This record gives sequence, structure tokens and C-alpha cells, in this order.
Amino acid sequence: MSRIFVTRQLPGPALQQLAADHEVDIWPRDQPPSPSELLQGLRQSDAAITLLTEHITAELLGQCPTLRVIANYAVGYDNIDTKAAAAHGIAIGNTPDVLTDATADLTFALLLAAARHLTAAERSVRQGDWTTWEPAGHLGHAVAGATLLIIGYGRIGQAVAHRGRGFSMNILTAGKRDLQDLPQMLSVADYVSLHCPSTPATQHIIDAATLSRMKRSAILINTARGPLVDTAALAHALQTGQIAGAGLDVTDPEPLPPDHALLHVPNLVITPHIGSATTAARSAMTHCAVANVKAGLEGCPLPYPVPERHHSALLKD
Ligand code: GLV
Ligand code: GLV
Repeated sequence: MSRIFVTRQLPGPALQQLAADHEVDIWPRDQPPSPSELLQGLRQSDAAITLLTEHITAELLGQCPTLRVIANYAVGYDNIDTKAAAAHGIAIGNTPDVLTDATADLTFALLLAAARHLTAAERSVRQGDWTTWEPAGHLGHAVAGATLLIIGYGRIGQAVAHRGRGFSMNILTAGKRDLQDLPQMLSVADYVSLHCPSTPATQHIIDAATLSRMKRSAILINTARGPLVDTAALAHALQTGQIAGAGLDVTDPEPLPPDHALLHVPNLVITPHIGSATTAARSAMTHCAVANVKAGLEGCPLPYPVPERHHSALLKD
């Protein structure tokens, strides 16, 4: 019998399988454990399932001598110091594939919503502002025939491309090999969607300089990670009409404080990091995390290990 710390109650039945054979300690609150509560939970465990809200640092890992495996309940794992984990012999797993379609769908939902001013139009109906059909009311941006630039062409980027083709868009992709072409691609894109992992090399890949390359009619979508975008630069670009709009499922910081400038620009559609939030995807993620924990405890290779990341692979995913 091993001890497993799970940092939140998770959807789906898979977690119950672990409780049959192990002592499973599930963090009972909605808010994440504090750093000291996290340390306390991990320090006395053999395995853990963690969320992207938990910062698994080298310092923390150094204080958890019994820990053998961490199954991150996400495809991204920028919240974990994977190098330090490797140095301590702790296996790290993630939940790839099962959330690809859910995340690509949400990306498209944000793209369409931003293109067609969906949230502002909806608000106008609810507020009783809509009194008659207006020929020039809520005029949005065409999607068919427009150019969609996908930055980061891994699983989710490819699934977004597939949807874009279904909507008769022209697709441009910027993977790790075509980064030198990014400025030129940004200058012709009508929609720019981010699908790369958050690493030191991709931090602020959208900043004041790259925003200034974009068309004034362009719309930025981010369903990947907040730090890919310089938040202050984006708020400024939206306020000044340097780009036309944005759809964000992730931000930096996350969540944004209620008085943040971004929340007061009219041309922003924003959701609370719900890319993978379908019942099917979240249940399947629990299944992946449980499979990773079981394998790690048995000393077997994880079925869903985080990939070895080399600097040349920064734009995969
Ligand atoms: C969610 O953001 C994930 O990385 O799975
Ligand atoms: C709009 O409602 C249309 O029918 O064109």
C-alpha cells in the first residue's frame, strides 16, 4: 500500500480505482493547497496527482525523499521543474491526446466569438438594448477565406488547423523550424492562435514588437498558456486598436485581478482556462493520471510520460 496525494477531487471514476489499493489523500478544497500544505502532502507520499496551479519546484522536490511519481493533470507541465524531478529520480507524467479535441473546440469557440462580437451582442440583448434589426450593428470579421496563423504545430495546433480548413480558412503554421518567418506570417494573418508550450524560449512570443506586426483587423487567440503573451502589451494593443480583438482562455497572471486593464477593453472574449473542460476529456485525463501513478509506483515506464524537452523542440505541442 502506497500513499498518494491528489491535489483536488477529479472528475470520472478512475480515482476510485486507486483508493481500492492505496491510501489516497485528496485535497478537499476548491482552492489549491498553499506551498506549505503542498509540501506537507507531498513529503509524506509515494506518488501525487497535481494540477497546473501547483508549483513543483526543485526546492520542494528536494524535501520529498519518498516521492517516486508525479502525474500532472494537464498536458502542459510548465508548473513542474522536470529537470529537478529527473535528478531526484521522480517520474513525471501528463495527460496528452485526450484533451486535444476539447481544446481545439474551445479555441474555435473563442475565435468565432471574438470574430462576431458574440459576448457583446449577447449582452446587448440581455440588457434590453436591442430594439430592432440593424444593418450595421455588431459588424464582425469574416472567417471563411481568412488566414489563420497557428503558432506551435503539435497535436492541438493540428486539430485547430483541421477545424480551420472545415471553415474554409487558409492555414499558416509556425513550428519550431519556421520561427524566422514569424514576423512575415504575422503581417498577413487575420487570426493568430497560440498552441506552443510555455518555456523560457516561448515567453512573450506575442509582445509589443510582434503585436505591431499584426494587421489592425487581426484577432489573437490564446488557449495555451498565459506567459506566451505580454499581458500589458496586449491590453495596450486592444485599447489603442492596434489589433481588433482577442479571445483568451489563459492569462498572465491567472486569474486576472478584477481591476485589470484587460478586463475593461471591449473587444476581448475571455474564459477561465476551460480548454479541456468537457466531461469526457476531464474523465479521460483522470484515467491517464491514474495510469501514470500506477505505473510509477510499480517502477514501470509511465504510459504518458512528459517528453524529453530539448531546446530544439520548444514549439512542439
Ligand atoms: C491545460 O491547460 C493543460 O495543459 O492540460
Ligand atoms: C439574417 O438574419 C438573414 O436572414 O440574412
